[in-house]
Amino acid sequence: MGESHDERVYEIKELGELPDGGGRYGVLGWPVSHSLSPAFQRAGFAALGIAAQYVKIAVPPEGLAEAVAVLKERQFSGWNCTLPHKVAMYDLVDERAPSAERLGGVNTVARKEDGRLCGFNTDGEGWLVAIRESFQVEVRDLRVMILGAGGAGRGLAVQAALEKCRRLVLVNRTIEKARELHEHLRTLLRTEPWEGSDQRIEIIPWDEDRIGQELGGIDLLVNATSVGLRPADSPLLPASLLLPSLLVYDTIYRPARTRLLQDAAKAGARVANGLGMLLHQGAASLSIWTGREAPTDAMRTALNSAAALS
Ligand code: ATR
Repeated sequence: MGESHDERVYEIKELGELPDGGGRYGVLGWPVSHSLSPAFQRAGFAALGIAAQYVKIAVPPEGLAEAVAVLKERQFSGWNCTLPHKVAMYDLVDERAPSAERLGGVNTVARKEDGRLCGFNTDGEGWLVAIRESFQVEVRDLRVMILGAGGAGRGLAVQAALEKCRRLVLVNRTIEKARELHEHLRTLLRTEPWEGSDQRIEIIPWDEDRIGQELGGIDLLVNATSVGLRPADSPLLPASLLLPSLLVYDTIYRPARTRLLQDAAKAGARVANGLGMLLHQGAASLSIWTGREAPTDAMRTALNSAAALS
């Protein structure tokens, strides 16, 4: 069964206390105590019959370079990075897979046989699989609106553009950030040409009337803002804008049903939360580390019970 969220969190200087035996893996974050990754990664290793440890490691932003040095010295085989380390880890690895270059950050590190560290980013792929699994559709066939252009929104927008989805509408409260993201996509699309992308990608201001007008031509609405994490948050969008024809994906998974998902479900839309993304980015990490197909059923069962306990 899943591990509870209050199990031991290691600090960098405590990693010498890890018992010997098995491969060493972990998740680096700040804070990290609520991470659900150990619960389902351990289940994944166990289902593959691989002896491995996977621990939570608390690393403050200013300690990340030291942490990487210690993880190397302690022969860690790989690790995940969560907030706020994904961008900084990009510069701390020896080489980067195309996924990390395109998404501009690293959420998975694997130590190669020669000791070099390779950075990957499985977030985009995890999102694609989550959408497929939740709604039985492919992102490339959809007209997509992404709310939020921070770290999460940026990654999803890049992935949607790489998929050459039918339409991509980017909305951010601070419109300048959406414009920067648009510029980034244009640069990216110079090497990954997407015919008609000038017409297909659009930036719109955070204006409820404007968002409402656009939603009639959207299939998949994605929340990649942080709104909904706190119970006191005001609704991200007025419920009246949410149409039954929409697929609504919230990258938030705690709470399991944000106000947005509740309102969308009430409106008759199909909805899913961010647990699928969490599962599938982690399953992709496990595949990178082991070279094997991830046992997603076992990982999902462990994740769901850990999420229910948290
Ligand atoms: P993350 O890495 O989770 O994306 P982030 O980079 O801090 O975190 O980004 C948070 C996102 O939530 C941003 O898109 C932010 O909008 P701004 O760029 O305008 O700050 C968005 N966000 C946070 N609070 C919001 C609010 N009340 N309404 C709309 N968007 C909000």
